[in-house]
Amino acid sequence: MTYQNILEERDHSLLVISIHREAKLNALNKDTLAELHFSISTALQDDQISGIIITGSGTKAFVAGADISEFADFNASEGRDLAREGQSKIFNLIQNASKPIIAAINGFALGGGLELAMACHIRIASDHAKMGLPEVSLGIIPGYGGTQRLTQLIGKGRALEMILTADMIDAHQAFLYGLVNHVVVAEELLNKAKSILNTIAQRSPNAVASAIRAVNASITESGFETEITEFSNCFGSAEFKEGVTAFLEKRKPKFR
Ligand code: COA
Repeated sequence: MTYQNILEERDHSLLVISIHREAKLNALNKDTLAELHFSISTALQDDQISGIIITGSGTKAFVAGADISEFADFNASEGRDLAREGQSKIFNLIQNASKPIIAAINGFALGGGLELAMACHIRIASDHAKMGLPEVSLGIIPGYGGTQRLTQLIGKGRALEMILTADMIDAHQAFLYGLVNHVVVAEELLNKAKSILNTIAQRSPNAVASAIRAVNASITESGFETEITEFSNCFGSAEFKEGVTAFLEKRKPKFR
């Protein structure tokens, strides 16, 4: 596959995948998701690769979310397909990967961007990174597993505050919440991720894969299904139309 929206770079047994749509703050459009799926699936089959890092191109954004312009006129059924397909092809693929995958959060990680980072096994942020799930300001909810994974990582009260306010938190707050494992200066971000993956690469690959499966067994499926249903119910409503139109017109939404 020829990539237009991601970059791959090998460092010995590690693969660094950069989402590469800087002009759109690395927002996840359909093509980017397809390329990511192909890149990650291929790397997971490749015996020469021991671990994967996912990051964003440039210094401003990791990923600023799903590409809003692509779903602005979706109805409920298209919304359901968007969430279900994304969850199975990317977010669950990452979560259930047999090799460690680290998110190196180099800037804004919002909506689908934070959900991408949360699907990874470990998160490291650069000190200027900002994170949030702003979906309710668009008239929808997180649909790529965010309601489930944020709650698992930081607890129900903090997750509800982040999701309901749609506010961002900075890297320091994310560290205090346990949302990211480490905060480093931008120049050290990839080195830190590589150093952790190189340590894991010295351990038993079978045991590493088993440990990931065992830890993941604590996660239940039904919450993800509820999220898909609630996500799709938001589509097509007047509030959804107002939320996405306001973003595309660069103004604040008027819900009331
Ligand atoms: N989908 C589509 N396009 C996006 C995007 C997204 N999620 N996030 C940013 N972009 C685009 C902007 O439309 C803009 O494109 P343009 O230059 O063609 O107009 C470009 O990326 C730069 O973004 P801009 O908003 O101008 O940058 P900013 O510095 O003023 O603001 C953010 C940065 C991250 C605060 C702002 O882009 C933002 O709120 N993005 C959406 C976040 C979001 O709601 N994500 C969840 C989606 S489900």
